[in-house]
Amino acid sequence: MAPEDMGKISNRMRFLFALSSVVFTAVLAISPVKDLLHEWKGYKRAYVKFAEARPDTKTLLADYHPGLDQIWIPDMNVVDRCTTCHQGLAQPSLAGSLVPQPFRAHPPIPHHVKDWGCVVCHRGQGAATEVAEAHQTTLAWEQPLLPVRYIQASCGSCHRQALPETPRLDRGRELLARLNCSGCHRLQDIPRPAMLGPDLTNVGTKVSREWLYKWLKEPRTIVDSSGNVFVADSFNSTIPSRSGNSRRSVGSSG
Ligand code: HEC
Ligand code: HEC
Ligand code: HEC
Ligand code: HEC
Repeated sequence: MAPEDMGKISNRMRFLFALSSVVFTAVLAISPVKDLLHEWKGYKRAYVKFAEARPDTKTLLADYHPGLDQIWIPDMNVVDRCTTCHQGLAQPSLAGSLVPQPFRAHPPIPHHVKDWGCVVCHRGQGAATEVAEAHQTTLAWEQPLLPVRYIQASCGSCHRQALPETPRLDRGRELLARLNCSGCHRLQDIPRPAMLGPDLTNVGTKVSREWLYKWLKEPRTIVDSSGNVFVADSFNSTIPSRSGNSRRSVGSSG
């Protein structure tokens, strides 16, 4: 190789070296940048900004730390990180709809809001650190947040008795019992009739064909307001049947 070519090559080498250094630095930077862009970190920073713009900054930031917040209760298998974003939950001064979510104080409830984490009442994915993952159904998680209008349902997982604070839940339970859903469904705390319906084996000896037809088509016409069935006058009437063989016992062939 001629000496003048050496210069050229080393220039190219220098360029390649510089380029590879830049690429290498960029690759190294991916991880910290990705870390900085974590969704929850955005909410952490936003909370600090939000608090700093208010007169009670000190109170609002008293417990602040830049990492993940979580409520961890090993006995109850609770690992809820919702408070990482919902940072103002226990700050009375952040009550009211003027405060933007997720920084608003929790509305008053008959429990300390952090006693059991959040998902016992709200569902959602406690360990998640992104809004969509925490709030919604994802491939890995099937329980989305319960819409707040239905939240009394979750009180019912612990409270079996009616409470003044849970009028909707109480009404729901009353409807389930009154509409006799337990006739077909097994429902917690609502007794299931021991016998679901009378044995129909010999019903043909008991009621008339017309009665049966009426009963199946429109049961209300033969039930009085207290649920009693009028069968008295049709008892023991013969059932006219097309084959004229109305008295044969069910199950016999022919
Ligand atoms: C990464 C940040 C983040 C996490 C983690 C998070 N949230 Fe939220 N949450 C938000 C934001 C932002 C809003 C307001 C906008 C919205 O509704 O999406 C919100 C709104 C809500 C609301 C009000 C919804 C409504 O219909 O008005 C509830 C309830 C809620 N979050 C509960 C939870 C619970 C429970 C968890 C934990 C399982 C949780 N969040 C975790 C950011 C978060
Ligand atoms: C004991 C049950 C219970 C627990 C535990 C609980 N919440 Fe709630 N939460 C409620 C109820 C009930 C409401 C609605 C209250 C109302 O509207 O008066 C509510 C409302 C909210 C709202 C406001 C929703 C809206 O749009 O008005 C947010 C946000 C929220 N909860 C987040 C959380 C987070 C985060 C946690 C965990 C630190 C948590 N909650 C723990 C019962 C609970
Ligand atoms: C994880 C179980 C659990 C959930 C969920 C729960 N509670 Fe309770 N609740 C309790 C227990 C246990 C007590 C009694 C001890 C105490 O006060 O902490 C209680 C006490 C109460 C009391 C005081 C009166 C009483 O009966 O002792 C009220 C009112 C109440 N809860 C309402 C609610 C409402 C409303 C919700 C839903 C937003 C709810 N609870 C959700 C377990 C629960
Ligand atoms: C006559 C019997 C019967 C009565 C009474 C009845 N159900 Fe059902 N219900 C069924 C059957 C059968 C299915 C399943 C239907 C199917 O899978 O196609 C069902 C399905 C359901 C489902 C969907 C469940 C699921 O996992 O997809 C709900 C919810 C439900 N019923 C609620 C009620 C409620 C609430 C009442 C009372 C108002 C009620 N049912 C009364 C027979 C009944």
